[in-house]
Amino acid sequence: MEEVFAERTNWNLEANPLSEANARHRASGKPLLDLTISNPTECGFEYDRRAILEALANPASFAYDPDPRGLLSARQAVATYYVGRGVEVPVDGIILTTSTSEAYSFVSRTLCNPGDEILIPEPSYPLFAFLADIQDVKLVRYRLDYDYGWQINFQALQQGITARTRGVIVVHPNNPTGHFTKPQELEKLNEICAARNLAIIADEVFLDFMLQGEAPFSFAQNSAALTFTMSGLSKISGLPQMKAGWLVTSGPEQLKSQALARLEIIADTYLSMNAPVQWAIPALLDQRHPFQKQLLGRVRRNLAELDRQLPTQKSCARLAVEAGWYAVLRVPATRSDEELAIELLAERNIYVHPGHFYDFPSEGFLIVSLITREEDFSAGVKLLLSMF
Ligand SMILES: Cc1ncc(COP(=O)(O)O)c(C=O)c1O
Repeated sequence: MEEVFAERTNWNLEANPLSEANARHRASGKPLLDLTISNPTECGFEYDRRAILEALANPASFAYDPDPRGLLSARQAVATYYVGRGVEVPVDGIILTTSTSEAYSFVSRTLCNPGDEILIPEPSYPLFAFLADIQDVKLVRYRLDYDYGWQINFQALQQGITARTRGVIVVHPNNPTGHFTKPQELEKLNEICAARNLAIIADEVFLDFMLQGEAPFSFAQNSAALTFTMSGLSKISGLPQMKAGWLVTSGPEQLKSQALARLEIIADTYLSMNAPVQWAIPALLDQRHPFQKQLLGRVRRNLAELDRQLPTQKSCARLAVEAGWYAVLRVPATRSDEELAIELLAERNIYVHPGHFYDFPSEGFLIVSLITREEDFSAGVKLLLSMF
């Protein structure tokens, strides 16, 4: 029979053994402590519901007067967010998107012909594989190395560059390793990208969630290479359901204005932002202050609890974490991480992510979410450590 569907959609849609085990466990009604939760709306944080709902009910939303880059007042609020970080971002350099994921797709549509390549960090967030398939982009991984902290393996990055490479993704801070790009690494990235005409694509959704040290720089002010910086309300204000993100374009003037002109056509073709959310963006961004205070308090307390419990055993340790919502645990690699996660589900009623979910290149890693409710986290960690 002639093929009906595009090859890019020939995904293996069968559930993997861990998701199957998780679904069976939940269906059986057995108790479960879920240490993978990453949806902030399910973690018991308090939101100013009234302020949020009022912001969404702005009568100005009755008019349809779309701007391909997004409503000016919303872009001004985003620029003000960067001013708070000591970064000046011109409102003309900002394009609103319905999520960071949409921003990724706008950027790859602007940079890549079918089959072109984008470098992505390993380990990192598992969203990129599907995004790349949908955009006909090939992903090439560059290693991050851990040695009392994570760093970019520049040798691997440079070896990954081919004639088809169009850009390098950096997740700053990265999920789940919780490290961020250091100024010397930025310098090197700029050197490599400017020399090879590659773009830097910086995902900064976790930028506000530093656990120690000073606030890191933002790529939104990077001018030495063409740079696309993305973020949004999903993480910054804990409001993923609002579907509001943005893309900041910076870099050498000529490249920057050409990129923006092309992006504007893509954005104009979809005009995907809706009016109520755009009018609400200034108020929704204001919500970040109470949200981040609660979230960072939770993450710090959970991390302290983890560190309090870890000395009860000797075979499991945590890696250093600088920022973000997750902790990476080094565990004995006596079976695959997936087998271990399935065993933890069956024998301890806890659900954790195996390292391979985030493309860890070897066995021996589990990832736990630090935004889990504190009682669940403490009880879950106790059960987890009792396995070793
Ligand atoms: C590193 C990273 N980037 C992007 C996203 C997705 O964000 P958005 O909801 O804006 O698409 C996530 C979500 O977990 C993430 O961890």
